[in-house]
Amino acid sequence: MKAKKILGTILCAAMAVTALTGCAGAGSGKTKVGVSMPTKSLQRWNQDGDNMKKELEAAGYEVDLQYANDDVSTQLSQVENMVNNGCKVIVIAAIEGSSLGSALDKAEAKNIPVIAYDRLLMDSATVDYYATFDNYKVGTIQGEFVKDTLKLDEATKTYNIEFTAGDPGDNNAGFFFNGAYDVLKPYIEKGTLKVVSGQDTFEKVATPAWKTETAQSRAETILSTYYADGTNVDVWLCSNDSTALGVENALGANYKGTYPIITGQDCDKANVKNMLAGKQSMSVFKDTRTLASQVVKMVTQIIKGETVDVNDTKTYNNGKKVVPSYLCSPVFASADNYKEILITSGYYTEADIT
Ligand code: BGC
Repeated sequence: MKAKKILGTILCAAMAVTALTGCAGAGSGKTKVGVSMPTKSLQRWNQDGDNMKKELEAAGYEVDLQYANDDVSTQLSQVENMVNNGCKVIVIAAIEGSSLGSALDKAEAKNIPVIAYDRLLMDSATVDYYATFDNYKVGTIQGEFVKDTLKLDEATKTYNIEFTAGDPGDNNAGFFFNGAYDVLKPYIEKGTLKVVSGQDTFEKVATPAWKTETAQSRAETILSTYYADGTNVDVWLCSNDSTALGVENALGANYKGTYPIITGQDCDKANVKNMLAGKQSMSVFKDTRTLASQVVKMVTQIIKGETVDVNDTKTYNNGKKVVPSYLCSPVFASADNYKEILITSGYYTEADIT
């Protein structure tokens, strides 16, 4: 860290010299920033990448933006290339939090600061900062929605519930699941909620790589095993939109009972369409523009050797250190407020979601 601070000061001094073009970096004469994104296959990462590139370029940086096609070895070599190609700060949304250690070591050897983007980089001391949304709160918002919609405190009957969570390699996934489960656990213990499949731990309900198809086939199995006799599933607590989509597909094809409450996260276009069609009850909006702005601010603060804004120095222990973090606020979204948060805010046009 000390060496990196000095680096910031040197970069800053260079910036003063080359005031118009920014600090000298490779190629264009601008400071180069690496942005490593996990995949183009899920909508949000395309938005995250686009926003980061646009904002960094507007701030005068050259951007090396790479997508790794959900393949860990591709992400490893992309990050290594960023280290070797003169990036002065590297921003990473990891496919698998624990798998980038060797590339992070190379960044450390060159004193290149690393920011974990949205997903924490695990088991490495070479992570300087973390910017994300309040991941536990995302789950809390989902759990509270179920609790309020079913008025669980006053309920006199038992409601059936199933859970679908995210990728075990993504540190966020446990926070989402725990946030929701902690709200609902007292009702499961009281018998107001019943997990009919008995699959009620993160390990049992996780979805590797957050894949829609994997969530769908697990939901199909649960429906044919536990609900084929006409039992209703009243709630399907899904941690995000890609997995909710899988559950919605499975219900459409395999289920004749009363349609359940379904939760999600991200406000992906397909899921907003499903919310408007009554196939998904809510989502959690995480404005990727806010996260990108915060990370660009961090990048600039690092490069100028300034104090970096963080608002959480306790929650995110990556196994080697507690990483200073900035947590943005997630927002409840449904068919009732989508216009205000998604359309009026300019995030989507009506045409995007109809
Ligand atoms: C992100 C979620 C996203 C999921 C799947 C998580 O790390 O925080 O917004 O739905 O990955 O891409």
